[in-house]
Amino acid sequence: MSETESTESGPAAPTPELFDKIVNLSKRRGFVFPSAEIYGGFRSTYDYGPIGVLLLRNVKDAWWRSMVQMRHDVVGLDAAILGPPAIWEASGHLANFTDPLVDCTNCQTRHRLDKLEDPNVCPTCGAVGKFTSPRDFNLMFKTQAGPVADAGATCYLRPETAQGMFVNFANVLNTSRKKPPFGIAQIGKSFRNEITPGQFVFRTREFEQMEMEFFVPPDEADQWYEYWCATRFQWYLDHGMPEPLLRLRPHDADELSHYSTATSDVEFMFPWGWDELEGIANRGNYDLTQHQTHSGQSLEYFDQAANERYLPYVIEPAAGATRTAFAFLLAAYDEEEVRGETRVVLRLHHRIAPFKVAVLPLSKKPELVGPCMELLATLQGEFMCDYDETQNIGKRYRRQDELGTPYCITFDFDSLNDNAVTVRERDSMEQERIPIENVVRYLQDRFV
Ligand code: GAP
Repeated sequence: MSETESTESGPAAPTPELFDKIVNLSKRRGFVFPSAEIYGGFRSTYDYGPIGVLLLRNVKDAWWRSMVQMRHDVVGLDAAILGPPAIWEASGHLANFTDPLVDCTNCQTRHRLDKLEDPNVCPTCGAVGKFTSPRDFNLMFKTQAGPVADAGATCYLRPETAQGMFVNFANVLNTSRKKPPFGIAQIGKSFRNEITPGQFVFRTREFEQMEMEFFVPPDEADQWYEYWCATRFQWYLDHGMPEPLLRLRPHDADELSHYSTATSDVEFMFPWGWDELEGIANRGNYDLTQHQTHSGQSLEYFDQAANERYLPYVIEPAAGATRTAFAFLLAAYDEEEVRGETRVVLRLHHRIAPFKVAVLPLSKKPELVGPCMELLATLQGEFMCDYDETQNIGKRYRRQDELGTPYCITFDFDSLNDNAVTVRERDSMEQERIPIENVVRYLQDRFV
């Protein structure tokens, strides 16, 4: 069973080839499937398979753990996805959440004007000067609530989770015993009718966000902005992203929204270059002002100690869960030579890895499978486990390497006598014989 010859290697460079390998691995191992595939697919939507759903859940859990569970000053929220036009009018999305769109009259393709290399040349057919005049295209999905299709029934799928936190600011303030500085965090689906979705799950029309609105006294906004930039950058490092593949990029003045005094993006080196994982913005009191004005409800906080009322400023770290899961896959993918064969391994952090442990009986014989299942049941109470009794043990190790499983536990015929199992670590492939009664503790010690 022993494996040797681990060679020096690190995370693969984010090349276009790596992109293809991840898309291929995702389909082959059950991370991500094209949506509605048996009907020919539905463009730019994806389904997360048995492994991908665990990966995505782990990304969200890791975010929630550090943003809510480990803090005394942030509470959670799960707001509605459907919202009335009033919210989006106040937030500015109805008027401003648009992209400039042009159609090529030669090949009938549609493009975002601001993303064209040359605004006169169609990137699909090369026609020059064949674009229609640009028109603003609103990215929100519009639908109707209830059976009657009149204007009163119009509603929108949220294009960001953030507005749920702003419209609930007073509710949370009045019920949670928090006062500024404090935050409201939310994870959930958002929808944007992107004109140019693509690059696998990087830009899709349906995606998940992890956003937190941190409400602060105005004179503390600058310091909290710096704090959240540093804290969020560190989160990616703490979960195994190699530092050379990450950067924090402050926005230039001409990139800032009119209400933001500062914004920085956490960027990842994707196969096509640096691109955004998360934006951290100092939004001032723009959002609360807008909702206060449009709703007619006061959203001011009364500071008893200072005997003053004010609208808090907001620092917003806004990340994409699906995009971040993709970046974790790209950063973790590695290939190395082991005994003349290529081993593919996802060197995922244990919090992000879909399975923490795989339990593998050496043979399918009932005398091994029975006690192995007992061990599995014990471990399942503590960790997300896989169980696999097919193929030879080497192939099963390779499969777990491709899933990023940090530990494999093999129950063999000796286990029946010595009450011990072989624990194999993913990255080093080193193996240790551990008494069954110590296995839970052994793993817990390694998953801190
Ligand atoms: N509330 C602020 C806000 O929504 P954003 O930069 O538009 O800011 C935040 O979105 C994050 O959501 C982005 O950094 C990205 O990770 C993710 N995101 C945005 N649009 C996306 C899309 N079409 N597909 C996948 N992820 C997306």
